[in-house]
Amino acid sequence: MLSAELLLLSLLTTKGESPVCQTYRTEEVSQFSKDGDIIFGGIFSFHQLDPGELQYAFTMMFAIEEINNSSELLPGVTLGYRIFDSCPSIPLSIRASLNLMNKYSENENKGESCHKPSSVHAVIGETTSTSTIGIARTMGPFHIPVISHSATCACLSNRREFPSFFRTIPSDIYQSRALAKLVKHFGWTWVGAIRTNSDYGNGGMATFLKAAEKEGVCVEYSVAIYRTDPRKLFLEVVDIIKKSTSKVIVAFADGTDLDILIKELHAQNVTGLQWVGSEGWITYRYIASAVNYAVVQGAVGFAALNAHIPGLQEFLVNSLLELWENVFGCSLRSPPKTPGSLGLCSGLESLRDTDTRFTDVSDASLLNNVYKATYAVAHAVHMLLMCEEGKGPFENNTCADKENVQPWQVLHYLTKVNFTTKVGDNVFFDDFGDPVARYALVNWQMDENGYIVFQTIGYYDASQSEGEQFEMKRDVRAVWAGHSLQVSRGRLSYPIKVVLKHPYLELTENALKHNRPVVKDFSIFLLLFSLTLCFLCSLTFIGRPSHWSCMLRHTAFGITFVLCISCVLGKTIVVLMAFRATLPGSNVMKWFGPVQQRLSVLAFTLIQVLICVLWLTINPPFPFKNMEHYKEKIILECALGSPVGFWAVLGYIGLLAMLCFVLAFLGRNLPDNFNEAKFITFSMLIFCAVWITFIPAYVSSPGKFTVAVEIFAILASSYGLLFCIFIPKCYIILMKPENNTKKHLMGKIMSRGL
Ligand SMILES: *[C@@H]1O[C@H](CO)[C@@H](O)[C@H](O)[C@H]1NC(C)=O
Ligand SMILES: *[C@@H]1O[C@H](CO)[C@@H](O)[C@H](O)[C@H]1NC(C)=O
Ligand SMILES: *[C@@H]1O[C@H](CO)[C@@H](O)[C@H](O)[C@H]1NC(C)=O
Ligand SMILES: *[C@@H]1O[C@H](CO)[C@@H](O)[C@H](O)[C@H]1NC(C)=O
Ligand SMILES: *[C@@H]1O[C@H](CO)[C@@H](O)[C@H](O)[C@H]1NC(C)=O
Repeated sequence: MLSAELLLLSLLTTKGESPVCQTYRTEEVSQFSKDGDIIFGGIFSFHQLDPGELQYAFTMMFAIEEINNSSELLPGVTLGYRIFDSCPSIPLSIRASLNLMNKYSENENKGESCHKPSSVHAVIGETTSTSTIGIARTMGPFHIPVISHSATCACLSNRREFPSFFRTIPSDIYQSRALAKLVKHFGWTWVGAIRTNSDYGNGGMATFLKAAEKEGVCVEYSVAIYRTDPRKLFLEVVDIIKKSTSKVIVAFADGTDLDILIKELHAQNVTGLQWVGSEGWITYRYIASAVNYAVVQGAVGFAALNAHIPGLQEFLVNSLLELWENVFGCSLRSPPKTPGSLGLCSGLESLRDTDTRFTDVSDASLLNNVYKATYAVAHAVHMLLMCEEGKGPFENNTCADKENVQPWQVLHYLTKVNFTTKVGDNVFFDDFGDPVARYALVNWQMDENGYIVFQTIGYYDASQSEGEQFEMKRDVRAVWAGHSLQVSRGRLSYPIKVVLKHPYLELTENALKHNRPVVKDFSIFLLLFSLTLCFLCSLTFIGRPSHWSCMLRHTAFGITFVLCISCVLGKTIVVLMAFRATLPGSNVMKWFGPVQQRLSVLAFTLIQVLICVLWLTINPPFPFKNMEHYKEKIILECALGSPVGFWAVLGYIGLLAMLCFVLAFLGRNLPDNFNEAKFITFSMLIFCAVWITFIPAYVSSPGKFTVAVEIFAILASSYGLLFCIFIPKCYIILMKPENNTKKHLMGKIMSRGL
């Protein structure tokens, strides 16, 4: 909308009755330009003094010069360019677009100029998705092709909105999916998410969250940052990261924004987290400093494939020298020989060193994209000019007028290009203007000199079939975050909804919804079964004691309680393990999976069975006629036989209960399923309280009251377990069925002072 209004405003000004056409005029001239038969437009934001942006512009010039020199591609055609600077903002990008469409010259005839075709046939740019959207919207109605080397927003694949847009970098759709697969591949199923609050970050993260859900990856929090946000907001995000339990952060962000956050994290010593990054920052030289490395050491992520473009480095070095000489009016090269030439520059020796950031092409992935984009346009124009009359693609099989090439004709040919560059990359566009999604998997490593390198450790090719998309390099070593890295490989089966509130924006994100019911697995049924047995145990105390019922009483109760508590213990361990796990790739659930859980329940129970067998064989309980307490009454009761046996059975239960209590207590703050650990802690507290009071009551109560006390203890502790573990679940199932499946967030995250 904005662009349309601006165009109307600028192109048409009504004067009197007849509308008079007028060129959009600014006093701006392009930063770099050269005249030619075919003019390529370029928009980059070197305003930011980012050497990378200047590199893009110079790479474009390099490619144009190479094509200009070539005798195969566009022979005899002189190429030119006009390259504009834009800040990465929509209005300024639109202004640059308008500047490109309307050639500004001092003595131009008003009125006439509007009928001239656009001065450029295609535009290369921009770097950020947001600016590219502005440019593509402005150029779209005029069918001027826009080819971006780095705008990855999936939104740009919309052919209806952006009919003239192409790119040589894959859409985020592929990257987001690849990131989800990557996270899954390394077994990181419990992650935090950070994004740039822009089209790039929001779109990419939305796709990632969707793909992550499919892969079974859970997201603990999802926050947005932007470079212009106040520091307070960044500190809040640092706080969220510090308090979170996930040890892996997926950052779909621009380098500029993330740099600010990383600096804050460093100031608070938040290190040891495993970062997974999008190409927006993962190979962003600017943030690859030693300070940042301390925070994001071992980061992994996807980057455009690197390539070595022969001759580019020399071209950049020469261009830099030329630029410098023009700016300062002095010479950096060999002493001037002819009179009147420039004097030598002084004190700038470091510039001779070709290893400056501007001339560093060690990471040429995006430069290669600019190179490919420029060649794509050249190939399109080449095909257009090679068109044979009568076999053309346009109406009545005509070709384009070669003297007066229209941008929409170039646009048509761009959809048809399919060529291989000197470097060996095959370039063609699909129906949406996207290239094939191929990425390098890079890993941040520090070499012996303390220089941070983006080591390629593998490849991802979306065009391959499922399962063959990842290809890890065998000969390289990957570096991971510090020793403290703990990878959560939780069986987190519950949904998380993150609600973060802060003064500037309010995020409500449905991070993950797993449609798994509360009552989900075997262990729950086993627990329910053993609890039922516990209740039934009290029945063995009823009736006239016989030889068998005496033996059954304590042993049945001892074994069922151990069964019950070891089920709870198994659950507690799973919860703890899921969130406090070990290194990447090591599969925690392999060590404590469902089979191991059942085996542990069996083992714990067998120990109790053994104690009972020993007790029963050595000195079993027996019916006993107690005539001591009341003179007139005989009390039929069970004598313990061996008190040691009895106290061993009870002691073992107590031991397990204490262990369970301690573990559950440690895990009480983990955001697990409906705060299960908290409920387990509580139930164990009740359990221990009941049995601790049982001891003095049992010892001091006479005769038949000992039985009553024991039954009471059994029932009370069983009810404690039942209420604490099952009632919350039943409440959710019956009263809040929507929470059973979806968006139920364990209050934990929200209550963490956000
Ligand atoms: C292209 O080549 C012509 C001469 O063949 C030259 O005048 C022109 O400056 C060159 N353009 C570029 C962009 O190098
Ligand atoms: C183009 O040709 C000129 C003259 O032959 C040469 O100086 C220049 O380096 C060439 N440019 C490229 C990019 O190959
Ligand atoms: C970070 O660690 C350094 C040294 O290990 C220490 O001097 C500094 O006080 C720590 N900063 C914070 C905020 O904990
Ligand atoms: C195409 O051919 C038809 C008939 O031969 C003619 O009427 C029409 O004007 C032609 N269109 C163009 C654009 O030349
Ligand atoms: C591009 O050309 C190559 C051969 O040069 C061919 O194998 C490939 O299928 C073509 N791709 C498309 C999309 O036409």
